[in-house]
Amino acid sequence: NKGKYKHYMQKEIHEQPESLTTTMRGKLLRGGSCKAKTVLLGGLKDHLKTIRRSRRIVFIGCGTSYNAALAARPILEELSGVPVTMEIASDLLDRQGPIYREDTAVFVSQSGETADTLLALGYTLENGALCVGITNTVGSVIARNTHCGVHINAGCEIGVASTKAYTSQIVVMAMLALAIGGDTISKQERREAIIDGLFDLPNKIREVLKLDQEMKDLAKLLIAEQSLLVFGRGYNYATALEGALKVKEVALMHSEGILAGEMKHGPLALVDENLPIVVIATRDACFSKQQSVIQQLRARKGHLIVMCAKGDAASVCPGGGCRVIEVPQVEDCLQPVVNIVPCQLLAYHLTVLRGYNVDQPRNLAKSMTTQ
Ligand code: F6R
Repeated sequence: NKGKYKHYMQKEIHEQPESLTTTMRGKLLRGGSCKAKTVLLGGLKDHLKTIRRSRRIVFIGCGTSYNAALAARPILEELSGVPVTMEIASDLLDRQGPIYREDTAVFVSQSGETADTLLALGYTLENGALCVGITNTVGSVIARNTHCGVHINAGCEIGVASTKAYTSQIVVMAMLALAIGGDTISKQERREAIIDGLFDLPNKIREVLKLDQEMKDLAKLLIAEQSLLVFGRGYNYATALEGALKVKEVALMHSEGILAGEMKHGPLALVDENLPIVVIATRDACFSKQQSVIQQLRARKGHLIVMCAKGDAASVCPGGGCRVIEVPQVEDCLQPVVNIVPCQLLAYHLTVLRGYNVDQPRNLAKSMTTQ
């Protein structure tokens, strides 16, 4: 039932304040004034010690689920101190990459049924690593065959393009980082700021959803473009990849997410006054580096659309001349959850305006159960 919405994708984008609330319910606890703020992941509690002691954590997934893990990687490394590596499931299998008994492998899958991820799970189990599942489907094969896991509880996702599952996956992995990170005094302030940030996230998503009309207007300007680049780095490298994936899979427009740090190593050659480029430049430790990327793109007359925190338009685009999307600022590691929303809205409106099937993009299926 789509209710007041025209498409499931649209409904699922707008549902995110509620789906995130459900994802966190019962897992995030904030007591009275003197009570600690904590995370409770019931499905993992008997395994946390093993995870903390593992030699590395390996995230394994495909598509949007891989991107969600990439968004959570920096905070997991920061809070746990354990090295985190990333594997696209099919690539791990192609290489038969090394997996050790001392590894913790985290399988991220909305459906819990993706063939590549499932085969990578079989391979990882054979190699003796602890396997953790993060899925949205209770009773799915990946949920059943992992040693332990967390259910993201985002509710049923019907649109083929994953939207609300992506934001819920990031939130669960941020909570995983808090749970693995333990309770060292030196990180207490940071942990509490993240927990407060998580509690407030549904409100911030409500706020960012107000950009709907602005994203529709932007889609009108981009309707006939051949290509769209999305530059991000740090926490928002994942936003660049995921924003581009949404545009290509539903709006059927070529789009590429680019790590801004790689700009000078090739992509800069593409820049001219025609090719539209989205630059994610919200506030975090990489902000000044992104400011200089914007300067260099402008020096080459790049057609820029800059996403920045509210009130930062003049700092990211001094003198004007870029289109600016202002989003609410949240704790840096949670910013990808906010930043993806305008990208989802843009992909949605581009698709409708270009006349393509929003909920059932050609050649794709909701759950890829074949390799
Ligand atoms: C993109 C999309 C796909 C899936 C991928 C993995 O919007 O939906 O990229 O993310 O096929 O699917 P799951 O998460 O079910 O394993």
